[in-house]
Amino acid sequence: MKVFFLKDENFTYKIGKQIGQKLFPGAVICLNGDLGAGKTTITKSIAKELGIEEDITSPTFTIVNEYMDGKYPLYHFDVYRIGSSEEMYDIGFDEYVYSDGVSIIEWSNLIEDILPKERLDILITYEGEGRNISIVPYGDKYEEILEGVSL
Ligand SMILES: Nc1ncnc2c1ncn2[C@@H]1O[C@H](COP(=O)(O)OP(=O)(O)OP(=O)(O)O)[C@@H](O)[C@H]1O
Ligand SMILES: [Mg+2]
Repeated sequence: MKVFFLKDENFTYKIGKQIGQKLFPGAVICLNGDLGAGKTTITKSIAKELGIEEDITSPTFTIVNEYMDGKYPLYHFDVYRIGSSEEMYDIGFDEYVYSDGVSIIEWSNLIEDILPKERLDILITYEGEGRNISIVPYGDKYEEILEGVSL
């Protein structure tokens, strides 16, 4: 696990960029934390690093947004309004998560029972004017991603 204090948005971007650089097909990133803490912000940074030029907006009402113009397909989920994990199967969650794309899931704790075991867990919380971020890797490939992350 690594924990950092992110003084402002630029630091959130920096961490996202470092993660984005080390992603691989099929990578899964889970984002949790306070409302408005920066989950979508870090997603934007990762997307930029994948070469996605389209603007990343929160998929709150659609559950998932797909971006196909980068190095790998990016599937950006926001499951904040999901009622149950079963609803995720209806939108084809497994097809996304076990594909060659990169999946980023905001509020993943709400569907904890169906998340893949191997993934990168990120928690972002308020700390004064800034944020605390803690990053936990599950699996060798995710440990490797984390090795490339520093402030
Ligand atoms: N390290 C930081 N310090 C201070 N402000 C930050 C930091 N990182 C991001 N922000 C700001 O916090 C806000 C985060 O908004 P964002 O939409 O990314 O949050 P979110 O976690 O996705 O919210 P939601 O819970 O609604 O999905 C943005 O205004 C961003 O500029
Ligand atoms: Mg968001």
